[in-house]
Amino acid sequence: MKVLVTDPIADAGLDRLREAGFDVVTAYDAEGDRLHEAVSDAVALIVRSGTEVDAELLDAAPDLVIVGRAGIGVDNIDIDAATDRGVIVANAPEGNVRAAAEHTVAMAFAAARSIPQAHVRLKDGEWAKSEFLGTELNGKTLGIVGLGRVGQEVAKKLGNIGMDLVAYDPYISETRADQLGAELSDLETVLDRADFCTVHTPLTPETANMLGEEQLQRLEGGYLVNCARGGIVDEEALAAAVADGTLKGAALDVFADEPLDPDSPLLDVDEVVVTPHLGASTEAAQENVATSTADQVVAALNEEPVINA
Ligand code: NAD
Ligand code: MLT
Repeated sequence: MKVLVTDPIADAGLDRLREAGFDVVTAYDAEGDRLHEAVSDAVALIVRSGTEVDAELLDAAPDLVIVGRAGIGVDNIDIDAATDRGVIVANAPEGNVRAAAEHTVAMAFAAARSIPQAHVRLKDGEWAKSEFLGTELNGKTLGIVGLGRVGQEVAKKLGNIGMDLVAYDPYISETRADQLGAELSDLETVLDRADFCTVHTPLTPETANMLGEEQLQRLEGGYLVNCARGGIVDEEALAAAVADGTLKGAALDVFADEPLDPDSPLLDVDEVVVTPHLGASTEAAQENVATSTADQVVAALNEEPVINA
């Protein structure tokens, strides 16, 4: 039975599938007809964020039992189309939470202290000490949009370094927010009060473009960090808001279209720090999500319960 893997996952996951007796085929660069051909005899498909699993791809895979997402976000998978075809979709909701939270914290500091910009200048031989004056996070207010697994981990970490916490998440209980020392409020108030705003929602019809020009104006003088999903923040509005000084800076790991277009206006603004969707890219996180996804695929193919379906 063939398990097709179309985005790179850790060897530990591939080994686990092989040990369970499956024929593991990797096709990391396959697109279009090649991808459709590769999936045509697969019983399981494993992806990260690089493969768009749409109805057309599912139609090309008549034997498919499960799509395993080696990570959290399932916005690249058409879940309705999969459900209509009886295909299970399972993600790995826990294995990369710490990595994503640490990356968010790193990006907040990188933006606040201009670390990437200063690094480039020094590598170019320039001692630009007098040009960089940063902002401390200690004593500032953090606005957290989306207080789920990653948002809570960020709240703990940045709360511990002395930030006041306000959060917008209409689906989280007051009790949980209290336990984290975060005050729940509406989005507008969170943005008005925040010096730093970190985004941790999934990309859904409700969150798409949730942070546009009007919302960014409310964060005036602050920093925006998005390591959740592109498409939640309006990229043109963000580039403009940082360029005209409305925001002091921004740090982004995720983009509406990935890979990011080299002509994106975000790349023209010095105070916008970018990384190429690295939030989950630690050895530990990749091993965690690869093995937990492999376990779910093995369970589905053995007709056993799939925990994160
Ligand atoms: P989660 O499901 O645990 O938490 C998401 C939270 O967002 C929930 O508490 C939910 O109530 C809240 N939410 C949903 N809709 C909302 C809305 N309209 N307004 C405000 N809050 C809303 O997810 P998570 O594990 O914390 O992941 C958060 C995000 O980070 C996801 O988008 C995930 O894909 C992304 N992520 C990115 C990376 C990366 O590599 N950059 C790594 C891991 C996770
Ligand atoms: C996720 O949602 O888990 C992230 O996108 C991580 C990834 O797979 O790169």
